[in-house]
Amino acid sequence: MADLRNALPATIRTARLTMQQPALADLDAMVALLANWNVTRWTASVPYPYAREDGIAFIETIATSPEQRPYAVHADGALIGTVGLIFVRATPELGYWIGEPYWGLGYAAEASAALLAETARLAPGVPVRARVLADNPRSLRVLEKLGFDVVEHTLSTVERHLGQPLVILERRGRRDEL
Ligand SMILES: CC(C)(COP(=O)(O)OP(=O)(O)OC[C@H]1O[C@@H](n2cnc3c(N)ncnc32)[C@H](O)[C@@H]1OP(=O)(O)O)[C@@H](O)C(=O)NCCC(=O)NCCS
Repeated sequence: MADLRNALPATIRTARLTMQQPALADLDAMVALLANWNVTRWTASVPYPYAREDGIAFIETIATSPEQRPYAVHADGALIGTVGLIFVRATPELGYWIGEPYWGLGYAAEASAALLAETARLAPGVPVRARVLADNPRSLRVLEKLGFDVVEHTLSTVERHLGQPLVILERRGRRDEL
């Protein structure tokens, strides 16, 4: 999957959004939007409370590691969240968060659809998975809109969500979707 990670474009544009490698210019907005348990509680590993050092570590180390390919998502020049692929298991996984002031505007679906389209173009037929708490209806709706299907009901093994019902979903990319 290293080939896919490295082949993904530096910039992805949609009708409303620009997506690029997270940069230190995103730090202040990222720290402000992630100082919110309503966002963090649903994520497997975003620290809470979220310190500036956490943001710097994400931008400089995590976001550049072979296991992650996140994009900072901007609307009208402002950071609104991040969407990316995670390469820790055999199948790449989609992950995202959007700052609470920007919820309900279709941004998570729009950004994710663009990333999935690039993934399908570069790696036709390669499935992408997502792992979502069963009681996270917003995220489940985003994945439904994107064409993911449920493949497994299980229990979370991450510390924050240990033992909570988890849904694993999968989407198979089509080359003709661009
Ligand atoms: C999940 C999240 C990314 C969604 O972002 P978003 O930009 O608001 O998503 P979208 O606007 O593209 O879609 C949200 C959908 O959920 C629906 N929705 C909102 N609240 C809902 C609820 N309580 N029950 C069911 N659906 C709900 C919206 O109506 C919308 O669907 P629609 O387009 O059919 O109307 C955002 O809420 C978030 O960051 N949450 C915290 C972090 C998180 O959960 N990350 C994912 C971990 S798996």
